Amino acid sequence: MLVFSVPRFFFTTWVIVVSLQMHGYRSCIEKERKGLLELNAYVNSEFPYDWPNDTDSDCCQWDRVKCNFTTGSVVGLFLNSTYTVRPLLNLSLLYPFRELKTLNLDYFNSTGWFDNIHELKDLRNLKLLDLSGNMLSGPLPGLCQLKNLRELDLSRSEVIGRLPQCFSSLTKLEVLDISSNKFSGTSPSLISNLSSLQYLSLSDNEFEGVFSVELIANLSKLKVFKLSTRTSFLQIENKISLQPRFQLSVIELQYCNLETVPRFLQHQKDLRLINLSNNKLTRISPSWFLENYPRLQVLLLQNNSFTMLQFPRLLLNQSMQILDVSSNKFYQGLPESIVW
Ligand SMILES: *[C@@H]1O[C@H](CO)[C@@H](O)[C@H](O)[C@H]1NC(C)=O
Ligand SMILES: *[C@@H]1O[C@H](CO)[C@@H](O)[C@H](O)[C@H]1NC(C)=O
Ligand SMILES: *[C@@H]1O[C@H](CO)[C@@H](O)[C@H](O)[C@H]1NC(C)=O
Ligand SMILES: *[C@@H]1O[C@H](CO)[C@@H](O)[C@H](O)[C@H]1NC(C)=O
Ligand SMILES: *[C@@H]1O[C@H](CO)[C@@H](O)[C@H](O)[C@H]1NC(C)=O
Ligand SMILES: *[C@@H]1O[C@H](CO)[C@@H](O)[C@H](O)[C@H]1NC(C)=O
Ligand SMILES: *[C@@H]1O[C@H](CO)[C@@H](O)[C@H](O)[C@H]1NC(C)=O
Ligand SMILES: *[C@@H]1O[C@H](CO)[C@@H](O)[C@H](O)[C@H]1NC(C)=O
Ligand SMILES: *[C@@H]1O[C@H](CO)[C@@H](O)[C@H](O)[C@H]1NC(C)=O
Ligand SMILES: *[C@@H]1O[C@H](CO)[C@@H](O)[C@H](O)[C@H]1NC(C)=O
Repeated sequence: MLVFSVPRFFFTTWVIVVSLQMHGYRSCIEKERKGLLELNAYVNSEFPYDWPNDTDSDCCQWDRVKCNFTTGSVVGLFLNSTYTVRPLLNLSLLYPFRELKTLNLDYFNSTGWFDNIHELKDLRNLKLLDLSGNMLSGPLPGLCQLKNLRELDLSRSEVIGRLPQCFSSLTKLEVLDISSNKFSGTSPSLISNLSSLQYLSLSDNEFEGVFSVELIANLSKLKVFKLSTRTSFLQIENKISLQPRFQLSVIELQYCNLETVPRFLQHQKDLRLINLSNNKLTRISPSWFLENYPRLQVLLLQNNSFTMLQFPRLLLNQSMQILDVSSNKFYQGLPESIVW
């Protein structure tokens, strides 16, 4: 037994040394390999991931695992679509992965997490956290401590109540998606402090009252903004003097009771997609609307109250690819010419 294992040991070492010299490639760290096996055993008693319990197996090559090939440490875990039967994730099981940057738990089917020893904050290198498609109706402990987060996806997760005030400390966030939850109350004022935001979706929640454009006006990097509510009454406040610092490429404002287009869109010269469906627009107004968007590709105005439509010729001449004006109140059908 020993006679055979010794040459094999040397051979393996030789291969590792050679490949390190050739590519600088480091394979999986033993502590992390064990950690992955423990995690697998915990979340998947019935249908485990195909991760062999074999010391010769390089866990950096495993499905759902991503390593930094210079250091050999696990930097990405893609546990999405696992549908675990364990409703509460034991966070201690993530503790071996100190260099973790991406944690994808989309449709992990978790109701939350617990931690006997550590907290989520110990994953302090985490940059991307996807918790979408879970059932997180309880509190969200520890999230605010992840100060290095760049992307946080909490969409479709049955979260109830107010956005925790401490989210204002996540100042490095570039992407925040909290769409399709049951967030309620007035629109969260803390978003005005998230100055790195490029993508913000508050859509399909239960925010009510007045949404002041001031809340986002200073977010100079913002490119995509989405807001809608299905269940409550939301109105967009539209101050004349306000000059936002952003140039959006996508705006979606659905179910916002809009009778005219909000003024803050006047100087948005880079818009590619406008979705103002399910509002109460009766005509293309004010007059600047659509005149200023040379790059517009998609314009969605379905389910409004238009009785007639005339678009600037310039608009239809240019980059426009999709125009949806279905479910309006045209009494004469579409006019022969829809341009002015
Ligand atoms: C992996 O195999 C070792 C040795 O056979 C065993 O002690 C350990 O419990 C196994 N780990 C898992 C998670 O199954
Ligand atoms: C791998 O880790 C090293 C050391 O932490 C870091 O400098 C490097 O940028 C990482 N590589 C990648 C691709 O993230
Ligand atoms: C998990 O999500 C990543 C994208 O982040 C995707 O590439 C991958 O296919 C998904 N895996 C599963 C099992 O759905
Ligand atoms: C999700 O978890 C619950 C237990 O919390 C379980 O009853 C249900 O079957 C799981 N869903 C799927 C699709 O596995
Ligand atoms: C959570 O995981 C840690 C580390 O593996 C373990 O020590 C602890 O017993 C686990 N807790 C529960 C309740 O499973
Ligand atoms: C937002 O930032 C301002 C100044 O930058 C600070 O005074 C305020 O406390 C912050 N708000 C929150 C909710 O953290
Ligand atoms: C936006 O910036 C202006 C000028 O710096 C400042 O007066 C205003 O209070 C800021 N608004 C918010 C909501 O932070
Ligand atoms: C536009 O809004 C409608 C209605 O809310 C929605 O169904 C559709 O997915 C949106 N489309 C795009 C491209 O944003
Ligand atoms: C059309 O929009 C109104 C809000 O303006 C909404 O109440 C209604 O459900 C929408 N209809 C459809 C078919 O989506
Ligand atoms: C629209 O396009 C036509 C031909 O493609 C061109 O003759 C006309 O000058 C264009 N009009 C405008 C307003 O750009």
